[in-house]
Amino acid sequence: MQKTLLSILAAAWLCAAQAQTDNMDQFIEDLLSKMTLEEKVGQMNQYSGFWEATGPAPSAGNAKRKYEDLRNGRVGSVLNVRGVEEVRAMQKLVVEESRLGIPLIFASDIIHGYKTLAPIPLAEAASWDLKAIEASARMAATEASATGVSWTFAPMMDISRDARWGRVMEGGGEDTYLGSAIAAARIRGFQGEDLSANNTIMACAKHFAGYGFAQSGLDYYTADIGTATLHNTVLPPFRAAVEAGVGSFMNGFNLLNGQPVTGSSYLQRDLLKGDWGFDGVVVSDWASIAEMEEHGYSEDLKAAAKQAVTAGSDIDMESYAYINHLQDLVESGAVSESLVDDAVRRILRAKYKLGLFEDPYRYCNEEREEELLYNEAHQEAVLDMAKKSIVLLKNEGNLLPLKKEGLKITLIGQLANDKTSPLGSWRIGSDDGTAVSVLEGLSAYEGNEVTFAEGPKLWANEPTFVTPVEVNTTDRTGMAEAIEAAQNADVVIMVLGEHGFMSGEARSRTDISLPGLQQELLEKVYENNPNVVLVLNNGRPLTIPWAAERIPAIVEAWQLGSQTGHAVAQVLYGDYNPSGKLPMTFPRNLGQVPIHYNMHNTGRPNTKGDVFYTHYIDSPLSPLFPFGYGLSYTTFAYDNLRTNLRGQSVEVTVKLTNTGDRAGEEVVQLYIRDRAASVVRPTKELKGFEKLMLQPGESRTVAFRLTPQELGFYMPDGQFVTEPGTFDIMVGPNSSDLLQMTIEWK
Ligand code: NOJ
Repeated sequence: MQKTLLSILAAAWLCAAQAQTDNMDQFIEDLLSKMTLEEKVGQMNQYSGFWEATGPAPSAGNAKRKYEDLRNGRVGSVLNVRGVEEVRAMQKLVVEESRLGIPLIFASDIIHGYKTLAPIPLAEAASWDLKAIEASARMAATEASATGVSWTFAPMMDISRDARWGRVMEGGGEDTYLGSAIAAARIRGFQGEDLSANNTIMACAKHFAGYGFAQSGLDYYTADIGTATLHNTVLPPFRAAVEAGVGSFMNGFNLLNGQPVTGSSYLQRDLLKGDWGFDGVVVSDWASIAEMEEHGYSEDLKAAAKQAVTAGSDIDMESYAYINHLQDLVESGAVSESLVDDAVRRILRAKYKLGLFEDPYRYCNEEREEELLYNEAHQEAVLDMAKKSIVLLKNEGNLLPLKKEGLKITLIGQLANDKTSPLGSWRIGSDDGTAVSVLEGLSAYEGNEVTFAEGPKLWANEPTFVTPVEVNTTDRTGMAEAIEAAQNADVVIMVLGEHGFMSGEARSRTDISLPGLQQELLEKVYENNPNVVLVLNNGRPLTIPWAAERIPAIVEAWQLGSQTGHAVAQVLYGDYNPSGKLPMTFPRNLGQVPIHYNMHNTGRPNTKGDVFYTHYIDSPLSPLFPFGYGLSYTTFAYDNLRTNLRGQSVEVTVKLTNTGDRAGEEVVQLYIRDRAASVVRPTKELKGFEKLMLQPGESRTVAFRLTPQELGFYMPDGQFVTEPGTFDIMVGPNSSDLLQMTIEWK
């Protein structure tokens, strides 16, 4: 009876949804039929904000051009216009003055918050906590939407194995399975249940595809990716994004196997809009259409416009390629108008779904803006996320957690007393100086005596998003004072690493050790007082072999956003038991990069003391800290690994016990290896994980189900196959320490 009722309700809901879609399609067809070719092309044109919308209309130059284009329906969306007042004014200009009054979409790079900042995405990935990551994106969407924005260019889901690449800070790390799950969580968080609600924003899966495989980690550079790696490693997060209902995609700056991805029909038309059935909108990256000329792919801007639209790039961000040339191209017959219509339908659908036709000012509410920015609940949420993102890398002799009373603590490092760097990179709407510093966080605990010594400066200028960090390598002022302060302390806490603007776009490094004079400072302080807790601030894995060997306690604290100092202090004092796990491998040295846990075996995998096996003659093969690694203040034991074949699936169970004397969370990780396959599989592939909290002494059985989806793989032509045979099943606390058994999967 109840089932019948449910079926009736479900059918009614489907009918209503269908009616809505019918209405939308009808609405869009009607509108499209009224549009001139110029207006259609206008929808495909995206500009960056350029003038104070609330000031006088610009009278000259490029600003005047943009202004006139807006008034004349020659712009469909804009980015980088901030705040309700500005958004409202620009929307009004378009809605009231252009012939059809089609509202703009206002876009922005909302990467890890707007005013209130969560940890950088790589740090969040270290939480392995999908609910928390979704909630963080929800918070970011709530603040951003309150300022008039309804489209974020996030999440970035480029898998990367190269820590030299500065944009690893913006992604989910090196692993496809984890990266896909995180991408989907972020999309759910940004878009919520209803895209037309005034607190949700459209997400954007970027950069499609291969950008994270830039050779030598050099931003914007070429990626050459074999088809097996492309389909099994790079593309799955994008498929997951389509399945999660992402509203938009962004292509990218890079060449992929010799062709700019912005001009790739294979990626955009054949795969994305073809095989994967994506009906959303594809935006180019900033000027990436025009850059096809620089690449040597397009003869001129007009040719680039033709190549991009043919390949399926629907919106031109700041190239002026479509607005200057597309109308001509269609009128001369070089481009079919049906391609333009297809792009415009996609753009109008996005506007419809965002509710902008119903109310162009849907996201413009000054009261919401006032109430939601820096909202207290958001501060609490980002504090929670920040604590979850911290990874305890080493804790010899249980130096941590610190006693809350009676200690003399010396805190060292410019980063420890900075309120801007912890905000990290990619923070379009935020205000400098708004993070809680580590010094402030520690000072909130009053039982210990905390002395601060800056040490030599890491940076001497005032870095911004566009002003590079000037790393100090010569001025040792402050060194002696820091060493002296360390001598008198019970514990020395050193906050070292990278300034927040040393990672992010166009921030590639050729040396990923501690920059500037920090290594020297660390060594000198340690010589004088070995009781050092090293707190790392960084947007990428660093090579810290010296510290890993000697420094007794190391805490990976990334750039944790607005509440950094409180999060770090609560972990150091044990009010929060760290539970993060590395989403990227930490190499011992740069020569190992690109390094990742899911390597293939060579035909000679074992170093049997022989020369002709796979090894380096000057470095171990193993990483410094493996993917998935992270400690807790308690300890966990794994046993009783079992498998059960259930039809096409394999059930895997393992017993986890908290063997320490504190409650703690553990991320149980499941890896597989397909022993013989027609596309050789890596020696380990993450295929499941679960984060759970156990009380001291408590045991729980954790169960996973491996379905054909996890056991299969993609052939070089993109076809998914499953091949029964022998599989290793591995479970444990990280990608190196694993219980293992072997099964036959039929
Ligand atoms: C360039 C970046 O590659 C992209 O990720 C970003 O969304 C655009 N600029 C817009 O800011």
